[in-house]
Amino acid sequence: MKSIILLAPPAAGKGTQADLLCKKYGFVHISTGDLLREAMHQNDELGNSLKEQMQSGKLIGDAIVFELLENKLKTIENAPGSILDGFPRNVNQAEEYNRLLRSKNETLKAVIYLSIDYDTALKRIVGRISCPKCGHVYNDLIESNQPTVKGICNDCQSSLEKRADDNEEIFKVRFETYLEQTEPLIEYYKEKGVLYEVDSALPTNEVFQMIESIVDHI
Ligand code: AP5
Ligand code: MG
Repeated sequence: MKSIILLAPPAAGKGTQADLLCKKYGFVHISTGDLLREAMHQNDELGNSLKEQMQSGKLIGDAIVFELLENKLKTIENAPGSILDGFPRNVNQAEEYNRLLRSKNETLKAVIYLSIDYDTALKRIVGRISCPKCGHVYNDLIESNQPTVKGICNDCQSSLEKRADDNEEIFKVRFETYLEQTEPLIEYYKEKGVLYEVDSALPTNEVFQMIESIVDHI
């Protein structure tokens, strides 16, 4: 199985590019943010505690994230590959993921770092709307990323929603958390020789073309 990680600040386009990759290559999209939001909507103890934590913009505990990830991975064992979006987000998660891959005799093929500056990323969350059912993301203010029918998901026809953590105040915390805990992974994966950088401030289709050329050669 081809295992690829998308590493990037919030709103850089991880979800957008993961969807395009899955449609083209038949990979499975695994977004730990989506898995956590799914768990958050369960009206149980975990769901209620996640609601508060996700609103803080800080990271959720590694153990919860890893349990959700392992459960998801068990369901996709025959897939040609997986795109990890939003995981790992710190060195501990990266080490844990290495151990998991080793136990399955699999290797990490590429870590694609989608680079973007704060202001460009912030502009993208203003118009973002997402599908609560399938996780597909759109943007009301960016023509190429609008849904065909306003407010409705192209893929599953559910009503699109604004994410609860998409406001400037929480975005700032999410970005700072990224710089503090996730950005060190760029060096970590560079040293392992698997890091590729793509300029994610470019239009969606241009970013995708660059990612395709990486995926086609690994
Ligand atoms: P998560 O859901 O992963 O959010 P995030 O990292 O903040 O990233 P986003 O989903 O906001 O952005 P994205 O990069 O997917 O961009 P998108 O494609 O939507 O995490 C949420 C929370 O969950 C975290 O804060 C944390 O609490 C928790 N969490 C998740 N994983 C965790 C983990 N491993 N450990 C601990 N806690 C965890 O694009 C954004 C917008 O821009 C869209 O509207 C899109 O249409 C548009 N767009 C995309 N690309 C382009 C482009 N090239 N040009 C123009 N517009 C574009
Ligand atoms: Mg996302």
